[in-house]
Amino acid sequence: GIADHYDDPIHIAVIGGTGLASLADFTHVANVKPSTPWGVPSSPIAVLHHPSPSTGKSIPIAFLSRHGLHHELAPHEVPSRANIAALRSIGVRTIIAFSAVGSLQEDIKPRDFVVPDQIIDRTKGVRPFTFFEGGMVGHVGFADPFDGDVGKVVRKCGHSLEGEGVRLHDSGTVVCMEGPQFSTRAESKLYRSWGGAVINMSALPEAKLAKEAEIAYQMICMSTDYDCWHESGDVTVEMVMGNMKANAENARRFVGAVLDELSKEEHSDLVLAKHLESQTKFAGSIT
Ligand code: ADE
Repeated sequence: GIADHYDDPIHIAVIGGTGLASLADFTHVANVKPSTPWGVPSSPIAVLHHPSPSTGKSIPIAFLSRHGLHHELAPHEVPSRANIAALRSIGVRTIIAFSAVGSLQEDIKPRDFVVPDQIIDRTKGVRPFTFFEGGMVGHVGFADPFDGDVGKVVRKCGHSLEGEGVRLHDSGTVVCMEGPQFSTRAESKLYRSWGGAVINMSALPEAKLAKEAEIAYQMICMSTDYDCWHESGDVTVEMVMGNMKANAENARRFVGAVLDELSKEEHSDLVLAKHLESQTKFAGSIT
């Protein structure tokens, strides 16, 4: 059966987005529901066992569905503080976050993958976006919103799947908009002029909160549409879901390859030690 608790620390997590609601080829051993000072996460956290390719030992992976088990949470309703705090409280130090995105560049075709390296914040301040308030004052650098070392591993894994139909772009700026409505044509063109590569509604505040919680965070984006700047027609939910479904197998393979790589002994410092060097008050307050 599936246990309702898991006692060992879990260092690696995947946050699944629209279209990536589960991971194949992992053994589901537990569901945990940590409650946090910021509420309960979007969904129970599934604990999956995965054999490390280098040692054969089982490595636990946490999987959290960002929009809930039945996709019931709109982007502005996702309890990101609870999600990040809950993952941190079970030991997570590295997050691979998945997101469906619209493309702002001709060369990023629907079903292409992008490993972004920058974010432009176009959320509107309606989402709680920090842990540092209510007496706990803190500031963290956010110049590089994604973790370079985890990014390197992710890019290598994406490229290793190119023979199997995965097209990967190694960098790009993700524009995170408020939603839930899609952009106007004028906005879409503005974001292109700013150098945006892709657009979504989910990178923030997740990436900011992960930074505050000292979790190495890297997003993997999958393009589902050309947004409305493109002459091929305006973006629809059917378009997003259709392309996401059609490419779900590649998405799962991509994430699976990343977890294989991160589970190797040689990356243990990457998923753990690096972030134990500096413990903030925050970390102490929830773990
Ligand atoms: N997610 C998927 N496609 C999108 C788009 N065009 N705009 C914002 N978020 C998206």
